[in-house]
Amino acid sequence: MARAKTTKKVRKANQYDDPGYNYQDYWQGRDYEHAAEELAIKRLLRGKKFKHAVDVGGGYGRLSKFLTKFADKVTLAEPSQQQLDIARIYLKDTKAVAQKLVQAADLKMKDGAADLVLVVRILHHLPDPLPEFKEISRVLKPGGTFLLEFANDAHFLNRIRYGIRGKRVPRTPVDIRSENNRSNELAFVNHHPKVIIEKLQAAGFELEATLSGSNLRSPTLKRIFGKKPLLAVEKVMQPLLAPIYFGPSVWLRLRKK
Ligand SMILES: C[S@@+](CC[C@H](N)C(=O)[O-])C[C@H]1O[C@@H](n2cnc3c(N)ncnc32)[C@H](O)[C@@H]1O
Repeated sequence: MARAKTTKKVRKANQYDDPGYNYQDYWQGRDYEHAAEELAIKRLLRGKKFKHAVDVGGGYGRLSKFLTKFADKVTLAEPSQQQLDIARIYLKDTKAVAQKLVQAADLKMKDGAADLVLVVRILHHLPDPLPEFKEISRVLKPGGTFLLEFANDAHFLNRIRYGIRGKRVPRTPVDIRSENNRSNELAFVNHHPKVIIEKLQAAGFELEATLSGSNLRSPTLKRIFGKKPLLAVEKVMQPLLAPIYFGPSVWLRLRKK
């Protein structure tokens, strides 16, 4: 008997197709944040080598380039054609990176097609990322690695802010759009790390390592000390402060069961 074909209904995530906004420009003056992210990736992937890495929601390929140090082949899987057009120029000398116009909930890849998936700075656009985690779990081989970075709503300063008001950091995603930006359709939320970890476990992942990221992300600190000294301190802080989710960003290394 023929099986009924199931078609996934997924909202189109093409919000970065905006001629008035160039995400590449956002990175001007953010050398410290970029280097802190490469530091975290390097630390989490130390000694590992992969056949096929997928940079899901990789934008213009800012980190796809770095992934080629760890994988024979990298796919930049990105839903914005505008980002992919910028990537074509940005990655013109990086032959190991292929492009695919897809989004995280429907990667259009075979089961087990990848042994490494990277997701950085995407979760703030996904209030409930469980369907995306399940899709990433599907395309990863058993034993494959998932590196995830996301904005941490339970960072140290926020816990103090909530504590002063006698409250706890909410477990529900927190909308961080300004009042006059609320009509913007693009979701912008911070997540509680414990909730994210529960969803990852529900999608078939086990947690292997955690880092606290961009711990010194402050324009004043950057101005006073400059990138190099800040990175030296960041290097120490990333593993040290991971157990208390100190920084504004959390890094997780997960293993597909
Ligand atoms: C802030 S940028 C981060 C890009 C890249 N990961 C980086 O760190 O440079 C967010 C990216 O997420 C992509 N995005 C938004 N919704 C997505 C979804 N549902 N699935 C995959 N990517 C998505 C956007 O097109 C954009 O390129």
